[in-house]
Amino acid sequence: MTANELRDKYIEFFVSKNHSHISGSSLIPENDPTVLFTTAGMHPLVPYILGQEHPAGNRLVNYQKCIRTGDIEDVGDFSHLTFFEMLGNWSLGDYFKEEAIIMSYEFLTSKRWLGLSPDKLSVTVFAGDEEVAPDHESARVWESLGIPRERIYYLPREDNWWGPAGQTGPCGPDSEMFIDTGIPGTAQSRPGVSDGKFMEVWNDVFMQYNKLADGTYKPLDRQCVDTGMGIERTVAILQGKNSVYETEIFAPLLACIEELTGARYGADPAHDTSMRIIADHCRTASFILGDEKGVMPSNVGQGYILRRLIRRAVRHGRKLGLNGSFLEAPAKLVVDMYNHAYPSLTENRDKIVDELVHEQERFLLTLQKGEHEFEKLLPKLMSNESRQIPGKVAFHLYDTFGFPIEITEELAAEHGLSIDREGFDQAFAEHQEASKMDEGSVFKGGLADHSEMTTRLHTATHLLHKALKTVLGEHVAQKGSNITADRLRFDFSHPDKMTPEQLSEVERIVNEQIERDLPVSVSTMTLGEARESGATALFGDRYNEVVKVYAIGDFSKEVCGGPHVEHTATLGRFKIQKEQSSSQGVRRIKAVLSDS
Ligand code: ALA
Repeated sequence: MTANELRDKYIEFFVSKNHSHISGSSLIPENDPTVLFTTAGMHPLVPYILGQEHPAGNRLVNYQKCIRTGDIEDVGDFSHLTFFEMLGNWSLGDYFKEEAIIMSYEFLTSKRWLGLSPDKLSVTVFAGDEEVAPDHESARVWESLGIPRERIYYLPREDNWWGPAGQTGPCGPDSEMFIDTGIPGTAQSRPGVSDGKFMEVWNDVFMQYNKLADGTYKPLDRQCVDTGMGIERTVAILQGKNSVYETEIFAPLLACIEELTGARYGADPAHDTSMRIIADHCRTASFILGDEKGVMPSNVGQGYILRRLIRRAVRHGRKLGLNGSFLEAPAKLVVDMYNHAYPSLTENRDKIVDELVHEQERFLLTLQKGEHEFEKLLPKLMSNESRQIPGKVAFHLYDTFGFPIEITEELAAEHGLSIDREGFDQAFAEHQEASKMDEGSVFKGGLADHSEMTTRLHTATHLLHKALKTVLGEHVAQKGSNITADRLRFDFSHPDKMTPEQLSEVERIVNEQIERDLPVSVSTMTLGEARESGATALFGDRYNEVVKVYAIGDFSKEVCGGPHVEHTATLGRFKIQKEQSSSQGVRRIKAVLSDS
């Protein structure tokens, strides 16, 4: 079964079980300051798991593009990916453990669906601890379906408890499903031990709590189910492949890299690692650049991750003898491969290719400059008796010239020099400490942060969006929004720096709407109807999908998940603090509300 077939089958199965098929969201989380990227299918659904009504109902299914960069350094092995697609189904206070598990079992084993042999299936359930009882209920359901007791594993919190990547939000015990790959394994092999014998295919999470910022667990008003099945990994297992890189998802990318380099995948383990890194990073970078909300390479936030991925790919290209820009061809393959499931890639095809080329060229220039600087330092380094480059010097090359340590190491080795890695690591750690402090505020707050202030800022964002369209023109489109308890941040497309007059006019219009004390109302309709009614919506959503439209009096109408205030007078006074460039063609406004 191919990835495209798996995606379609999953949706079809859950639609046949009365789930509404909803769109996946952007990779850039809406109004969530806790993480840089969407890390799981449940992520955009957090407000609904916490109790808001979802316009499409209480049974939902979708596929969601996800990025997890926590283990970026592991990418290059056979299984780690920075980008993956997650299939998920949700119950928002509808079914719970029993029905969720029965449906999972049917989808996995029925010949009509995946047709996996039940003999190959092992499952895990939560073993319980001081806070939450063991999950005997899930175990009983699995047993009633015919899974023998010895293949039902009770595992502790570190294995069988799931919460989102941010520190707060909905969480609960889970039950995971594993397929025995048939390799011999050892006495230690069991689900949860990554020795290749048992591969996880699916995770049913039973959301029962909301973890608050103070570390306590608050029971949810209604129990929810959140499940996740990673497409890439599951496809590899279904195809009996040892690695995601052997599936049709990666094979064309590897073939393209073979063609570019003349290297053959499978011939040299070091080359293979570089080829996998290039394939993974190129796919992820293409998805970030091709996202509905659009991110450009930069030195902060998502743009920084994008930059890092492209640069790491370039470095590994060099190891394979590619000294120029080379990511365009594999990126075009990514766009074509996902044309059906992710039309925003096709829509942004030129941007993806252009930005990849620019960023590669910028980095190649950096490398040239760094090499030049290295040459200048060389005589002094060579005369150093220890034949060792001090950590501070290596860090200077890294920090001032953006010169990666691995390249300094390569050059050093060419001249018979080594590097004081410990000294470098120390300088690096000190620097990270400093930048973490700068970014500290990004991680404050939480997914569940629907405090009064964030709600007010959310409504103010709609007013700002409309005011920008009024003052600058209809080309203004939202490119990103990030709200903390202190301020709103809004990115939008506009080619030029705004003038002071434009800024004060925008501010005046927003405050005028606040003073008019406009009512905020919400209605549900299909996206098609929303568009026809003149509501602003992001590109990429599905026409027939049922969405919420928030109207602020006669002033603004926007498709949005909420929450919002009921009357604009509660917003207080709106003030723009900063207008700056966010990336090419995108401006950023930071603004606050104060009590008037
Ligand atoms: N949210 C759960 C996961 O990511 C399903 O595994």
